[in-house]
Amino acid sequence: MDILSLLVNIKLYIYNNININKEYYIILSYVLKKSYIWIISNLNYIFNNNELNILYYLLIQRLRGVPISYLTNKCYFLNFSYKIYYDVFIPRKDTEIMVEHCLYLIKINNFNNILELGIGCGAISISIAKFFPYINILGIDFNVICLELSKYNCKIKKIFNINFIYSNWFSKIENKKFNIIISNPPYINKYSNNIKEDLRFESYLSLYSKNNGLNEIKYIIFNSYRYLLNYGYLIIEHCFTQINLINYYLSIKGYFNIKNYKDYNNIFRFTEAQKII
Ligand SMILES: C[S@@+](CC[C@H](N)C(=O)[O-])C[C@H]1O[C@@H](n2cnc3c(N)ncnc32)[C@H](O)[C@@H]1O
Repeated sequence: MDILSLLVNIKLYIYNNININKEYYIILSYVLKKSYIWIISNLNYIFNNNELNILYYLLIQRLRGVPISYLTNKCYFLNFSYKIYYDVFIPRKDTEIMVEHCLYLIKINNFNNILELGIGCGAISISIAKFFPYINILGIDFNVICLELSKYNCKIKKIFNINFIYSNWFSKIENKKFNIIISNPPYINKYSNNIKEDLRFESYLSLYSKNNGLNEIKYIIFNSYRYLLNYGYLIIEHCFTQINLINYYLSIKGYFNIKNYKDYNNIFRFTEAQKII
């Protein structure tokens, strides 16, 4: 069986999905360890048995709905690629705008102490570190796989200004204070009708939160205040349905300059608020 015949077979018999061309080439590139250019210039390359077995396995997993990032152990965020494993949240495009905003705040205020709560594969902290290699970044998570993976992603990218520690939100942060606390916490309401993505394969503890998805957000809002320097910002991602309660929690805790921002799909996606005393 060669590259082209397998694609034709998949299209005819298994898979009727408009993304199949793209996904087939991504999976092929992963299995054969060849570039896209090599693949399309060698469409008559004949697979050996081992390659064919792995390909069938991965294509079947993809048909089951396993995200392609888990099959190839690779994901992308702000144009950088990251290693990713099962059990670790796959960074989303929707989060990029919040990080771009954070980069802007760091630049205009000359900030140099940043805390990220819930790092996943490290994509947010590493993006910040790439742009600002001389500031101090602390990233925490309570999933040890996230911590190991983030350290690995840092090493590959030669990032040296992030410390990653195991912490249940603020439990191990002690008396440090930060200019910015940024977080994309679990905020999905398990019972919501707004869930359009297939989330079956991602870790439950990265995605879902009790009390209509607001439990972790509320905890972070109320506890961040103490860890922010004066004029520091809390920047937090959330669902568009949550902004009224989030604005309410922020205001009763005493934050100022509460602003809600939309993502590139024009949907409210994150909120910033400032501590001013
Ligand atoms: C939605 S994921 C975001 C991951 C990453 N920041 C990103 O945007 O790709 C939420 C992360 O928060 C972590 N998390 C959830 N509850 C936590 C807690 N109580 N303490 C620390 N981290 C927590 C999860 O392990 C997960 O990595």
